[in-house]
Amino acid sequence: MGKIKIFDTTLRDGAQTSGVCFETHEKVEIAEALAKMKVDIIEAGFPVASKSDYHAVEKISQTISTSIVSALVRANQKDIDIAKQALGKNENVRIHTFLATSDIQLAHKLKMSRAQVMAHAQEAVRYAKQFIDDVEFTAEDASRSDWDFLCQVFNGVIAAGATTINIADTVGYATPDEFGHLVKYVKEHVHDIDKVTIGVHCHNDLGMATANSLAGVIYGATQVECTINGLGERAGNASLEEIVMALATRYEYYKKSTNIDTRQIYRASRLVSTLSGIMVSPNKAIVGDNAFIHVAGGHQHSVSNHAPTFEIMRPESIGISRNTMVLNKLSGRQMFEERVAHLGYELSADVVNQLYVQFRELAKRKKLVYDRDIEALINSKKQQIQE
Ligand code: KIV
Ligand code: ZN
Repeated sequence: MGKIKIFDTTLRDGAQTSGVCFETHEKVEIAEALAKMKVDIIEAGFPVASKSDYHAVEKISQTISTSIVSALVRANQKDIDIAKQALGKNENVRIHTFLATSDIQLAHKLKMSRAQVMAHAQEAVRYAKQFIDDVEFTAEDASRSDWDFLCQVFNGVIAAGATTINIADTVGYATPDEFGHLVKYVKEHVHDIDKVTIGVHCHNDLGMATANSLAGVIYGATQVECTINGLGERAGNASLEEIVMALATRYEYYKKSTNIDTRQIYRASRLVSTLSGIMVSPNKAIVGDNAFIHVAGGHQHSVSNHAPTFEIMRPESIGISRNTMVLNKLSGRQMFEERVAHLGYELSADVVNQLYVQFRELAKRKKLVYDRDIEALINSKKQQIQE
């Protein structure tokens, strides 16, 4: 048994989604929703990247006290100085520094040797540590790095004072089995690993960000980095709602829980979708419009008798209170009658039969028949009866 810390990066990696540009007040609103959800760490931004990122980190750090507020920095003193300034007087803060460890990024991005990477990473952590105790180091592109070099770098940054080491699948290249084994290797080959938190940060280029993150959890990661609605660079990051609900729904399997108030998930998803302008696909797991909609008559019938027959989690558990059973051409008479009763009408069996015939006609023309349509049918029937 144990706890998994949820590190939300909607406001940093999520803000790197193509076409997304949050205003500062919108970032603060999202940070407040994340804090209400009890996210452990909120990555508020990358202060050196722009004035607006700086101001957002500053404002969020002044506003949020119940979650750790983290600022991203490259592994250099200037970035750390600016981040420290933006984080201000808040004591519940983190500096998150990163440097690539894969040979491909050393050669084509950093133009550094392995020895230089090691020295820079250690210097950055040591420098940040003078100001802030909570320092995270991410090995960027860890999943395409030489595993032994990766472990050497983690040994170096832990010796320099890092309190969290983060294994990034920056380009979404890993597969669950492989990524889980990488986490296991790090756990077995890095000294003092039990004194630090192991984080995982997975991108979704092959659609495996959630699976990779959960494989990481199985092998020892205790922090998962993720975003609301899976926003993020390219195909996005692991989605917070998937990680949290997988751990909650499959608790017996993972034996790990989070601090998240899951009833805040749907509201946060809607907020991020509205403010980012990025629509959530209807079939998106957990928060998509169809995620709790049952269409087949047999499914609807079973769910109304005993929800777990076709529902692995209740819509209420993520904060959805609306009726998720939209009737359609496959809905049976019993389902129709139950809906009529649910809407507060007491009608004779004969009237229900007549209405059901009309409902079937309507359902042939309209894919989904909402409660308001059923009410309209009932009201017009009532009028006919009175005339
Ligand atoms: O994907 C990545 O490697 C990152 C780091 C900067 C944390 O976002
Ligand atoms: Zn990332």
